[in-house]
Amino acid sequence: MTNIAVAGTGYVGLSLAVLLSQNNHVFAVDVVESKIELLKQHKSPIADREIEDFLANRKLDLEPTVDGAEAYRKADMVVIATPTNYDSEKNFFDTKYVEQVIELVLQVNPNAVMVIKSTVPVGYTKSICERYPQGRFIFSPEFLREGRALYDNLHPSRIIAGVPSESPFASELETAAKQFVQLLKEGAEDAEVPTLIMRATEAEAVKLFSNTYLALRVAYFNELDTYADVRGLDASQIIEGVGYDPRIGSHYNNPSFGYGGYCLPKDTKQLLANYRDVPQNLIEAIVESNRTRKDHIAEQVIDKVWELVYSGVKKPVVGIYRLTMKSGSDNFRASSIQGIMKRVKAKGIPVIVFEPTLDEAEFYGSKVYHDIDQFKKDADLIVGNRWNAELSDVSDKVYTRDLFKRD
Ligand SMILES: NC(=O)c1ccc[n+]([C@@H]2O[C@H](COP(=O)([O-])OP(=O)(O)OC[C@H]3O[C@@H](n4cnc5c(N)ncnc54)[C@H](O)[C@@H]3O)[C@@H](O)[C@H]2O)c1
Repeated sequence: MTNIAVAGTGYVGLSLAVLLSQNNHVFAVDVVESKIELLKQHKSPIADREIEDFLANRKLDLEPTVDGAEAYRKADMVVIATPTNYDSEKNFFDTKYVEQVIELVLQVNPNAVMVIKSTVPVGYTKSICERYPQGRFIFSPEFLREGRALYDNLHPSRIIAGVPSESPFASELETAAKQFVQLLKEGAEDAEVPTLIMRATEAEAVKLFSNTYLALRVAYFNELDTYADVRGLDASQIIEGVGYDPRIGSHYNNPSFGYGGYCLPKDTKQLLANYRDVPQNLIEAIVESNRTRKDHIAEQVIDKVWELVYSGVKKPVVGIYRLTMKSGSDNFRASSIQGIMKRVKAKGIPVIVFEPTLDEAEFYGSKVYHDIDQFKKDADLIVGNRWNAELSDVSDKVYTRDLFKRD
């Protein structure tokens, strides 16, 4: 049994803490006390079916705590899963929360192996080996989806661990990387999981190139949809026909208002920043394409508002149906519909919001509804990134590009 501390109990940290605590003693550390309090009651601070089930019903050796110093002191391994938000002024990820953990670990337990699970710029692990030469670091990219976080770690597409070849502890870290991969495999439910050990810098690149490919695919089908929309064609027929080519496939091709969520917008921008001095066209286009798509969707919404005005509605109200990216999600970090909302509001059009998970009366000055019937009554046009059956009785009011009525 290994003593493991996991820093950060968000989507990544909590799913890993639960997974690893099946076979190891795990300290789940966070700076937010309310999350730790919930975990102590075996309740999940995030919506995730498997995490909720495991916390309530499985035998886990999990110790939630806000005392990072104490947890790191007792740990053989510290998994770092703190946020790395994109800083648009510096054009790079802000890695300060990762470094806060690193510095605390170095104070209390300098020999512990630190596994960075946060998504970081390409070259980051190498740079921290130079900055903290006494530290032992490995980088392991995380590929889970929000809402299926534990499921994706129980059934991983692959497990990758990266070792910084520049570290004075490189050979010791190679062993630690293999051990970490083994711990993840032991927690998984699949017998066969592809595993790769590589250099940390390549592993960092795997993460950013994977997410940028996903963003590319979303952007591609969205631009196909924009084309069909402007030319008056049926996008769903085109997408269906395109998808039968097995090299393309019929998955992950449902148009939306743009790629969003916590990771794709920031990871594409970070990869573009990493391309500085390297020739490219595509990576920049992926970032730009998302902006263009949101401009197009907002224009369509504004046109529909004008149509309502011409048909006699005095001051049409636009209703934003859910702020989340996908149905079943419990957060709306960087969701694309917020970009649409911002553009529509900038035209002085009144906007209301239906978001049952938001416990506020207003969102950026717009009234938040929790009662769907009142919302449907007060909105003249309903704009939704994703369709939901509860909109069926007002479908003539709804604007969405959710052609296949699925995520
Ligand atoms: N969400 C995803 O789908 C996903 C997938 C793969 C990788 N990632 C990456 O993983 C990292 C974490 O993402 P997330 O979605 O789990 O974030 P999150 O915001 O859901 O959770 C991060 C947690 O870290 C805590 N925290 C902040 N500073 C801390 C500190 N010094 N000590 C202990 N806890 C601290 C926060 O309170 C929060 O609970 C990011 O780098 C992200 O890019 C996320």
